Amino acid sequence: MRVGLLTGGGDVPGLNAAIRAVVKRGEGEFGHSIVGFRNGWRGVVDGLSVPLSRQHIRNVLPLGGTLLGTARFHPHSKDGGLDAVLSTLEAERIEALICIGGDGTLHAAQKVAEAGVRIVAIPKTIDNDVWGTDASIGFDTAVTIATEAIDRIHTTAESHDRVMIVEVMGRDAGWIATTSGIAGGAEIVLAPEAPFDIDRIVKFLKHRHRAHASFSIVVVAEGAVPAPGTAMHYETQRGQFGEVVAGAIGERLKAEIESRTGFDTRVTVLGHVQRGGTPTAQDRILGSRFGVAAIDAITSGQSNVMTALRGERVELVPLEEVAGKVKRVPDDLLAVARALA
Ligand code: F6P
Repeated sequence: MRVGLLTGGGDVPGLNAAIRAVVKRGEGEFGHSIVGFRNGWRGVVDGLSVPLSRQHIRNVLPLGGTLLGTARFHPHSKDGGLDAVLSTLEAERIEALICIGGDGTLHAAQKVAEAGVRIVAIPKTIDNDVWGTDASIGFDTAVTIATEAIDRIHTTAESHDRVMIVEVMGRDAGWIATTSGIAGGAEIVLAPEAPFDIDRIVKFLKHRHRAHASFSIVVVAEGAVPAPGTAMHYETQRGQFGEVVAGAIGERLKAEIESRTGFDTRVTVLGHVQRGGTPTAQDRILGSRFGVAAIDAITSGQSNVMTALRGERVELVPLEEVAGKVKRVPDDLLAVARALA
């Protein structure tokens, strides 16, 4: 069989582990030809294919990024985009396509599947907000990096008696903020799932600094918002791909906290550091499991499914159930972060 493979959307550590698994399992076990497309859906539209075999995946397991390149690009939102995808796949004689991506890439995959292409998707995003799977490739590494950053910020916060705001990624869901906030011992965690009230935050900080300690760590997801009807409320501006301006919420919080408490406050925006570098063992393992599962699904005749971690098992879920939905942080996890503040 000729199997296409692409990585789309923002890169994450662990993508190369998944690519390697697809090639090893697909070519080595079943004799499939794996055809890579450069830069996500853009490469399919532009016909940028590269053969992928054993020699291309040597030593890539510990490397961050994606050896195929990636891009934020939705073929269905460009005139003639879907037709271009179909004609490239036909010209390359692709019988099934593996799409590794987050929400945007999977949404595009669903459109391409509706046009008659056999698709198997693999979820990846540091935001961990792909619906239908307990975990996505890249999340574990991002949480590990954010937790280490919070640990480092802790010591300097304490030395200077400061409020330190750590802004992490997560535009629609606060998985990184909540889990790294718990792991790093943050005093306050702000996630998009629970719009905040700045009055309560200011009150809490004043009380803590009077009664318990002279420093505080606030971890905020970039997509966190003040609750309607509370001070500081505003409408978040979104870009073409749903992105928010990095640093915006961190700076707003700093200005508000500083002016209302008088506490010396600093902001650290972790940004793309969370997406770079060596994947953790967990992300290498997850990428490898999903890569093997995707090839096995294709070989056994499955289509239009996504590999998903459900408890200890990798299962297949229908793509149409996943595309367009956001997996938000559950209340009990948010409650743990609050309970430990
Ligand atoms: O989609 C994952 C993500 O890491 C978001 O958390 C963040 O808002 C966005 O990517 C940043 O995207 P870009 O790399 O295009 O600036």
